[in-house]
Order: sequence, then C-alpha cells, then structure tokens
Amino acid sequence: MRLAQHGDNHSVGPAAWSVYSGAMSRLAGKTAIVTGAARGTGAVIAQMFRDEGAAVVATDIADRDGADGDGIVKLDVTNEAHWDEVVSGMDQVDVLVNNAAILHMGPIERTSAEAYRQVLDVNLVGPFLGMRAVVGPMRASGGGSIVNISSIDGLIGMNGISAYGASKFGLGGLMRCAALELGRSGIRVNNVCPAGGNPAMYSQWFDQMMSFMDETAAYSANRGIPGEVPLECIAAAALFLASDESSHITGADLPVDGGAAAGVVIEGLNSLD
Ligand SMILES: NC(=O)c1ccc[n+]([C@@H]2O[C@H](COP(=O)([O-])OP(=O)(O)OC[C@H]3O[C@@H](n4cnc5c(N)ncnc54)[C@H](O)[C@@H]3O)[C@@H](O)[C@H]2O)c1
Repeated sequence: MRLAQHGDNHSVGPAAWSVYSGAMSRLAGKTAIVTGAARGTGAVIAQMFRDEGAAVVATDIADRDGADGDGIVKLDVTNEAHWDEVVSGMDQVDVLVNNAAILHMGPIERTSAEAYRQVLDVNLVGPFLGMRAVVGPMRASGGGSIVNISSIDGLIGMNGISAYGASKFGLGGLMRCAALELGRSGIRVNNVCPAGGNPAMYSQWFDQMMSFMDETAAYSANRGIPGEVPLECIAAAALFLASDESSHITGADLPVDGGAAAGVVIEGLNSLD
C-alpha cells in the first residue's frame, strides 16, 4: 500500500485510490452500516468496504454528493425511529461505522447552548443510538465490530472547538464503556482518531480562517509525518478495525494523525550531535 502524498485528491473516485491497492475481500460475507456516507470520509469508507466484499448500507441525513454510485439510505443519527427502520430492514449487521458528525467552531463565550447541544446530539448521542440499535442483531449472530470515527480532538484539546472536542472526548468514554460491556458478546468497539478529514466540514469558517492560515499550516506541519491526512488512510484504519484481523482489539483509540497526538516536533533537536 502506497501512502498518498500531501495534496492528493480527497474526492471519491479513481483519483482518490492512490493509497489503496484494494480488493482483498477482507470483509467478505459481512454487512456494514456506515453513517454520514454521502460525502467525505464516510463515502470513502463505504466504497473501500464494498471493494473488500462487504454489503454496505451507506446512510446519511443528506443526499449523496454527485449522482454516481449506489443510493444513500436516509438516516439521521439522532433519530431513534430511523435507526429502528434501517436495522430492522437488515438480515444481519456485522459492522457499524459511526462516522457522521458536525462541527461548531468558536470560543466558549460565543457558543450558544443550542449549538453546543446540537453537536453533542449528532456526535455523541448519535453513536450511542447506533450502538444500541445494532447490539441485538450483532449479539444474535455471535458478534460484530463497532468503529467510531472520532478525531485527534478526542485525544488532545484545542481552543475554539469546545463543543466538538467535548463530543469527541465523550465518544472516547462511550467507546471504552461499550467495549467492556459488549466484549463477552463478541462485539468489539474502537475509535479511529484522524487529524483531518473533509475540509467541507469547516467550510463555513474558511473566510475567517484565512487571516491565520500560517498558524493552521504550522499545525499540520508540526507532526512526525507532516501534512494532511488522506481520507483513504482513515478508511484503511476503519477497515482494519472492522475486519477480523483486529479480532482481539477492543477499547482502543487508533490515531491516524501523522504522530500529532504523540507530541511536538522541534526540528532543530534532530541536528544535535
Ligand atoms: N473534517 C475534518 O477535518 C475531520 C478531522 C478529524 C475527524 N473528523 C471526523 O471524520 C468524520 C467524517 O467527517 P468528514 O471529515 O468526512 O466531514 P463531512 O462533513 O464531509 O462528513 C460528515 C457527514 O455526516 C453527515 N451528517 C451530519 N449530520 C448528520 C446526522 N444528524 N445524521 C446523519 N448524517 C449526518 C453529513 O451530511 C456528512 O455527509 C466525522 O466523525 C468527523 O468528526 C473530521
């Protein structure tokens, strides 16, 4: 597997597959639900899972970006009835990827309680409702894998994103409790923690962020492996945790962050004798 270089295309389609040699049937015979799969990371995960032989129910609150590919099943992750409807229509559920999330940016003094609650509702209550919906079918078939797409913001703090950071740290707690609760039923629960994703998630703040682009560029440059995280690398981590290759891994955070959560780089220290 070749890792894509900084600046590689993040869109879904042939140009996006440079990191992924693909097609090894690592999910053959499995059925997976992916939330937030209309675009971005979720769309890449759904495609990669299909390429690996899974039957994928790709869900989202929104319609798919562009018109190609299979349809998206409507599922608002905050809606209990939607979860019941989707899961009750499936013969088996082996994998759930809780990928859907929203972002709110802004300092605490300028974050409304409503915005804060909305982020927690989608990013934390949503995955809880998803887990609760699939536990029965997974238990009945002898097990399964639940993969939550968290964030580096669930591993280390950052200013200006209190709602999002709280939701992702909460997801770490939910993941650990669920892993311990469900392990004896053969159900594994893990988090993938990327330091990047689809820029569209923060596009409404692009204009304001232009004034401090140097700072954000320095943030992604100050890593063991500098630069943006390709969506395919995030999907590949989800694939590993979904597959039986990770059959003894549960309760774990898997950073896909170029080492960002490991600490800081002081380049000059590498030049010491
Ligand atoms: N974008 C980033 O920089 C970044 C960084 C680290 C982690 N992540 C995480 O990666 C995951 C995927 O995000 P992305 O980067 O692809 O962003 P994205 O905005 O492209 O994808 C999020 C998807 O979730 C869907 N969604 C939003 N609310 C929903 C709801 N209530 N029910 C169902 N679907 C809903 C959206 O329609 C969208 O398709 C998220 O969990 C996000 O927190 C993103």
